[in-house]
Amino acid sequence: MIEFNHVSKVYPNGTTALNEVDLQIEDGEFVVVVGLSGAGKSTFLRSINRLHEVTEGEILINGESITKARGSSLYRMRREIGMIFQNFNLVRRSSVMRNVLSGRVGYHSTLRMILGLFPREDKDIAMQALERVNLQEKAYSRADELSGGQQQRVSIARALAQEAKLILADEPVASLDPMTTKQVMDDLARINKELNMTMVVNLHFIDVARQYATRIIGLREGEVVFDGPVGQATDEIFSDIYGRPVHKDEMLGEM
Ligand SMILES: Nc1ncnc2c1ncn2[C@@H]1O[C@H](COP(=O)(O)OP(=O)(O)O)[C@@H](O)[C@H]1O
Ligand SMILES: [Mg+2]
Repeated sequence: MIEFNHVSKVYPNGTTALNEVDLQIEDGEFVVVVGLSGAGKSTFLRSINRLHEVTEGEILINGESITKARGSSLYRMRREIGMIFQNFNLVRRSSVMRNVLSGRVGYHSTLRMILGLFPREDKDIAMQALERVNLQEKAYSRADELSGGQQQRVSIARALAQEAKLILADEPVASLDPMTTKQVMDDLARINKELNMTMVVNLHFIDVARQYATRIIGLREGEVVFDGPVGQATDEIFSDIYGRPVHKDEMLGEM
C-alpha cells in the first residue's frame, strides 16, 4: 500500500507541483494518473520512489516512510519499485538480456556488478521476465535493434527481474503508435492481474486511461481534483480535470 499524507512539492523556483495530496493506493490496483502537461503527474510518480524529494508531508509504502528512509533502508525500499520511462531508459548498445539483468543489480555487491558477474539464477529470472512479455527470442539481440514497443516491453521485463512489487510508469506509451501502445498496455494489465502487481501509470490519452485503469486520479495544478473508479470518470469529469473540453489529440482513437 502507498500512502500520501498531506504531500506537497514546491520546486526551488517556487512552482508548486503537488499541493496537499492525501490518498492511498492499495496493493493490486491499476491507477492511471491524468492531467494536462504541467499538472504534476511526473512529480507525483517520482515522489513515490524519491526521485524527487517532497517539501511537505510524507509518503509511506507498506507503512514504512520512504520520505524519511536513509541508506540501506531507502535502497531496499527502492528495490521494490520498478520504474518505466517514456524513452525506455535502456542501454541501447547492450543486449536485451544485459538490460533485463540490470534489474538484478540491487541484489548484489557493487564489485560483483562492476565485473558483470550475474549468478546463474539471475539469468533464469531474467529469461522468465522476458517470457512474460513474450520477448525470449530477442534475449541476445542488441536493445536498439528492437522496435520502440519491444524496447518498452524490455524495460517492463527489467522491472520484473528486479522483483518489484510496484511499477511506476511515466507516460510509457507516449512515443509509441496505437498498435504498440496496445501491446505495452496489455503487458502491464496482464502483469497487474497475474502477479497482483500494483501499477501507477501516467497517461496522456483519455481512452487508453479508461480502457486500462481500475481507478483514475486527476491532477490539476498539483491538486487532486478527481479520484475514483474508472466508471465514474465521465467526459464531464475529464473536462473538469483538464479545465476545458477534451481535445481530439487526447484520444488515441484507434484501440
Ligand atoms: N525541476 C523542476 N524545477 C522547477 N519546476 C519544475 C521542475 N520539474 C517540474 N516543474 C514544474 O512543476 C509542475 C509539474 O510538473 P510535472 O510534474 O513534470 O507535470 P506533468 O508530468 O503533469 O507534465 C510544472 O509547472 C513544471 O513546470
Ligand atoms: Mg510528466
